Amino acid sequence: MNRTADHTAAGDSPAPVLEARGLHRWLGEAEGRVHVLCGLDLKLYPEKSYAVVGPSGCGKSTLLYLLGLLDRPDEGAIFVDETNLSAGTDEARTRARSAYLGFVFQFHFLLPEFTAAENVMLPMRKLGRLGDSEMRDRAEALLRDVGLGDKTHRFANHLSGGEQQRVAIARSLANKPRLILADEPTGNLDMRNSTLVFDLLQQVAHDKGQAILIVTHNRELADQCDEILSMRDGRFVE
Ligand SMILES: Nc1ncnc2c1ncn2[C@@H]1O[C@H](COP(=O)(O)OP(=O)(O)OP(=O)(O)O)[C@@H](O)[C@H]1O
Ligand SMILES: [Mg+2]
Repeated sequence: MNRTADHTAAGDSPAPVLEARGLHRWLGEAEGRVHVLCGLDLKLYPEKSYAVVGPSGCGKSTLLYLLGLLDRPDEGAIFVDETNLSAGTDEARTRARSAYLGFVFQFHFLLPEFTAAENVMLPMRKLGRLGDSEMRDRAEALLRDVGLGDKTHRFANHLSGGEQQRVAIARSLANKPRLILADEPTGNLDMRNSTLVFDLLQQVAHDKGQAILIVTHNRELADQCDEILSMRDGRFVE
C-alpha cells in the first residue's frame, strides 16, 4: 500500500494536478504550539476522487487549507506544474487558486443577497477571463448540471440547505478547476442531499477529468472514492 497516493509506477499515468512534499505545519503559540501536520506527501491525479478521513483534530482541515493555498506550510512544498506555489508571492497564489482550485465547505458561504447565478459567476469575475454574457451562460449551464436550472434567478437565501450546497458545487466548478477541495461538503445535509451532493462531485471527477479531495466523517461516502487517505495525528496511516 502506497501512502503517498502515487501512481507513477503505472508508467503512462498523467501528471499530477497537484503534488505536496514533506508538509509540516505548527499552529498556536509558545507552550500551546502544536505540530499539526508532521511531514505529509501527496500526489493527486486527474479523474480521481480522494477521501481524507480521520478523527477530529488529526489535521484534515489544516491540510486542506495548505493544499488550497489558503495557508502556507512551515516546511515542505506544494507544486502545480512543477511550480512551487508554497513559496510563491501572495499574488501568484491567489491567481493559482482562482485558476486551478475549486472549494466546497461544510457551510456553503453563498452571498445571500445575490442570486444563484450571480453566486456562481463570482469566481469567474475574479478570474476575469469571460465577458458578462459568457459568464451568465456558463453559470446557468453549471446550475442545470446540479439540477437547479429552474432556480438560477432565485436569491441564495430563498433556497433550501441542499440547494444552497448544490449552488456551492456549481460555484466551485466555475473556472474549470483541476482540483476541487471539499471539507465535509455534506456535513449539514440530510442523507438524501448528502448522497446527491456526493454523487455530483464524483461524477465531475470522472466526467471532466478533475481531481477531487473530500474530507468526510461519513465512511460510506469515503468508501465510494477511488482512494482513501487515512490520517492520524498529522500523518497518513494505513
Ligand atoms: N490556531 C491554532 N492553535 C493551536 N492549535 C490549533 C489551531 N488551529 C487548529 N489547531 C489544532 O490543530 C489540530 C488539527 O486541526 P484541524 O482543524 O486540521 O482538525 P480536523 O482533522 O479538521 O478536525 P475536525 O474533524 O474536527 O474538523 C487540532 O488539534 C486543533 O486543535
Ligand atoms: Mg476539520
